Amino acid sequence: MAQLSQDLGAGWFSDPRTTRTVDEGRHKATAITARDDPLIVTLRLVIGQQSACRWGSRNHRKSSYASERILLLMDDTYLASGFADVDASSNTDAFSDCLVLLDSLPYFREYKQHTYELLNLSNGTSVLDVGCGVGDDVVRMAELVSPNGRIVGVDASASMIERATARDDLPSGLLEFRQCDAKALPFGDSAFDRCRIDRVLQHISEPTVSISEMVRALKPGGLIVAYDNDWGTFSINSGNVEVTRIVQDLWTSSFTSPWIGRYLRPYFVQAGLAEVVIYPSNSIICEFDIADKVYNLRQTLRRAVGNNMISEEEGAAWISELVELTKGGGFTCALTAYIAVGRKPPA
Ligand SMILES: C[S@@+](CC[C@H](N)C(=O)[O-])C[C@H]1O[C@@H](n2cnc3c(N)ncnc32)[C@H](O)[C@@H]1O
Repeated sequence: MAQLSQDLGAGWFSDPRTTRTVDEGRHKATAITARDDPLIVTLRLVIGQQSACRWGSRNHRKSSYASERILLLMDDTYLASGFADVDASSNTDAFSDCLVLLDSLPYFREYKQHTYELLNLSNGTSVLDVGCGVGDDVVRMAELVSPNGRIVGVDASASMIERATARDDLPSGLLEFRQCDAKALPFGDSAFDRCRIDRVLQHISEPTVSISEMVRALKPGGLIVAYDNDWGTFSINSGNVEVTRIVQDLWTSSFTSPWIGRYLRPYFVQAGLAEVVIYPSNSIICEFDIADKVYNLRQTLRRAVGNNMISEEEGAAWISELVELTKGGGFTCALTAYIAVGRKPPA
């Protein structure tokens, strides 16, 4: 899929006389330039059982249907939208690899450590981790509640649960992984001492439903901790304000609930939680290549080019500028997230 996305990226219109076919199982795309007019391109796309044939002008890109299908192909591993349904991707590894990369970064380790401290874990505590991904937090929290505690990690994605279950560092006895939707937790009322949810609500259409579900599953007096991003604060320090705004907005609007970070406190209060406190947390990335891996900057640019929002030249110049900024130590990509903690009132 990565190859296919690359082939359909910024450069693929550049050689007008070639016929190009990219075939990767379910997805197949062929672009043929009209013999009498190199500016007219026929594009045939096959996605699963569906196929489409459309033409477009190389210059004007008239075929909105074709560009929609290209975006669909490119979106298959797009992190901002893809985490809402990982199993729908033809490359679920892209998502688990992303979680492994993020978990290796110092910023992530630090805020995660802060969430464990706020949960006040000790031997014997029972914890539910909602949207546990590949299980990094579950394994670390298991150490803090052992030997008599209990940790359950749940995730909507079967492939994530499969990877979490296959880890070779799982302590025996106190761990369990289950596949389920955060909006319908398969646990009775008051089943856990603690609930934690980390970068999941941004992918959920009704985050208040998931928060209510966690409060229901929490024992009276128990603690709930959530961490999530406020994508309205996402910023990149390029000199090209117009392209930067387009990239920031495209990426941000691809999340299901992009402003969830700023809503954590009011949603916790609305859910009836007491002692609600929030902690803002700023991440700064100073290398373009890392920001690209974490925030899909190149992929977002290709979407912008495909949507005719910017030209290929503007996109290429934007990347060159950010690569140069990185070399000179001046690249800054920043985001504010929030940790929220609250207590279910005693019965
Ligand atoms: C960005 S990852 C975070 C994973 C993990 N919490 C961590 O910090 O590494 C988001 C996770 O939420 C899961 N997810 C998305 N929507 C969900 C839902 N409705 N219910 C449960 N899990 C969901 C995804 O499958 C993915 O594993």
